[in-house]
Amino acid sequence: MKLHMVDVRGQYQKIKTEIDAAVQDVIDSGDFILGKEAGEFECHVAGYLGVKYAVGCASGTDALQIAMMALGLGERDEVITSPFSFVATTETIVLIRAKPVFVDIDPKTYNIDPERIEGAITPRTKAIIPVHLYGQAADMEPIMEIARKYSLKVIEDGAQAMGATYKGKKVCTLGDAGCISFYPSKNLGAFGDAGMIVANDPAVWERLRMIAVHGSKEKYHHEILGVNSRLDTLQAAILNVKLKYLDAWNSSRREYAARYDELLRDSPVTIPYVAPTCQHTFHQYTIRAPKRDALAAYLTENGIPHAIYYPIPLHRQKAFMSVGDRMGDFPMTLRACSEVLSLPMHTELTEGQIVQIADTIKEFYAPTNVPRLDETQSS
Ligand SMILES: Cc1ncc(COP(=O)(O)O)c(C=O)c1O
Repeated sequence: MKLHMVDVRGQYQKIKTEIDAAVQDVIDSGDFILGKEAGEFECHVAGYLGVKYAVGCASGTDALQIAMMALGLGERDEVITSPFSFVATTETIVLIRAKPVFVDIDPKTYNIDPERIEGAITPRTKAIIPVHLYGQAADMEPIMEIARKYSLKVIEDGAQAMGATYKGKKVCTLGDAGCISFYPSKNLGAFGDAGMIVANDPAVWERLRMIAVHGSKEKYHHEILGVNSRLDTLQAAILNVKLKYLDAWNSSRREYAARYDELLRDSPVTIPYVAPTCQHTFHQYTIRAPKRDALAAYLTENGIPHAIYYPIPLHRQKAFMSVGDRMGDFPMTLRACSEVLSLPMHTELTEGQIVQIADTIKEFYAPTNVPRLDETQSS
C-alpha cells in the first residue's frame, strides 16, 4: 500500500455514506451561506470544547485575524508569539498592523518558552499568542499567570491541536480566544478551507460574530470594520459528521505515535516529548534527527514521505524583515529548524507501514551506511 503523509481520501472512504448524505442535504437545501449546518457545527464545537461561544469562519488564518480584531489589537501594539510556527500566526499580527515580538521555544516541546516571555514585555505589549504546535499544548498555566500580571490578552493558536488537552482542559478554552483550523490535513479536516474562533466572554463573541460578516449584525448596517469570512455550509455539514470521530481518530494517532516511539527509541533520533500536563493529539509525529537532510533524502529514495515543519523560522522570513527591530536571535528555534523531521501520521496508517518507516530510518543510521553519512554535510 502506498505511503502517504496524510490520507484524506482513505479516511473519506470509511465514512463516505454519511458525508455524501450530509453534502447532498446542503445542496438540496440551496442554503449555501450560513445555512443551518454552520450554526449546528458552532454549537457542536462549543459543546465538545466546553466553551460558551464558537464562531465559524473561512480558515484558521482568518480565525487569528478576527480574534485579534475582536480583542481590540491594532496599530503599534506588540504581540508576543513563537518564531517556530506556520506563517499565519505572525502574518495576521502584521496584517492588523501590530508588531510581532518573538520569544524562543522550549526545545523539548517546540512551544513558546514561558520563562522567556517576561523579558520580552514592554509597555506596548498587548497580547500573547501561544501556538500548540504539532498537536501538543503550550505550557498555558505560566502563560496565563504572566498575562494576568501584565493585563495581556491571550489568543491560543490551536490550529494544529483540535482535541488536545492541558491539565485536563481542552486547548483553545484557556485564553481569551482560541483559534482552530479545519484545513483538510488537520486532525479535524474539512474538504477545503474552514476555521473557527471560540471564546467565553459574550462581548468578545459579539465582536467576533460581527467582524466575520463585514462588521454587521443587521444586513447593510456596518457597525465596526469587518471582513468576509464565513464558515461554508458545505464544509460545516462535512465537519458535523467528522467531529463525532475526532476522539477516536486522536486516540489512533496516539497509538501510532506510541508504536513509532517504541521502534525508534533506541535509534539516534529523538522521539517527541510529551509533557505530563498534556494529552498530545499528534497532528504531526516529529522527530529530531542527526544529519536530518541526508535522512530526508534517504527516505525520499526509499519512497517514504516526510516533511519539515518548519525549515525557516518566522523571524528570518523575508516578508517580516521590515516589521521587527527586535527580531533577536532564537537559538532553540534555529536548531529545531535544522533538526526536525515529521513522519507520516494519519488515521489510516498501518502497523506494517510504521514498521517500514522506522526500519528505513534505522537502516539509514546503520554502520553499513556510514560512507553515505560521512559524504553528507551535517545539518
Ligand atoms: C499553527 C498554525 N496556525 C495557523 C494556521 C492557519 O490555518 P489555515 O490553513 O486554516 O488558514 C495553521 C494551518 O496550517 C497552523 O498550522
